[in-house]
Amino acid sequence: MKRIVILISGRGSNMQAMVEAGLPVAAVISNRADAAGLGYAAGRGIATAIVPHGDYATRAAFDAALAQAIDAYRPDLVVLAGFMRILTDGFVLRYQGRLLNIQPSLLPAFPGLDTHARALAAGVKLHGCSVHFVTPQLDHGPIVIQAAVPVLPHDDEAKLAARVLAEEHRIYPQAVRWILEDQLVIESGVVRVKGDHPQQLSAP
Ligand code: GAR
Repeated sequence: MKRIVILISGRGSNMQAMVEAGLPVAAVISNRADAAGLGYAAGRGIATAIVPHGDYATRAAFDAALAQAIDAYRPDLVVLAGFMRILTDGFVLRYQGRLLNIQPSLLPAFPGLDTHARALAAGVKLHGCSVHFVTPQLDHGPIVIQAAVPVLPHDDEAKLAARVLAEEHRIYPQAVRWILEDQLVIESGVVRVKGDHPQQLSAP
């Protein structure tokens, strides 16, 4: 049986979507003791751990402690789900090919933070989310699946974020399942799914 470890910093709704999708979540780890998602995971009988970033003097020391906590669960895949820490290159390379992230934008548009406000300010008509493998360059790794949503005339940041989040909950479990089932092929940084599975969704 394959195993995933999910890293969260807050609400954990993407983590919850994976648990509800029946994915094999071995543990949920947070850098914040007050992350709301920890309570949900514990309530479902899933192991939880906290590695508080404030306890470590450097990013490298934090990442080393985080890696130790992760490796205790021997995961096949490490899933970043709203994990709001920049990771060192050393950490990223340690998990290369088995470290996945979701970014609330249609990458390569809007890497980084505040994606919904930036999309509104840019006047884009389509926005969305992307699941990608993590590489040392922030939000630039190979894209596994994307979902697009319309940007509507009276949207504000909260409305747009909610529309995107619903799609996150659809595409992230799908991406994890493909990986656990060894369905992906990566060539020159381009991800393809074996068989005939669409790697893009549009909001219904
Ligand atoms: C999600 O929208 C995720 O895409 C985003 O944080 C939110 C976490 O929500 N991630 C990033 O912005 C990464 N830079 P959740 O805790 O309810 O899953």
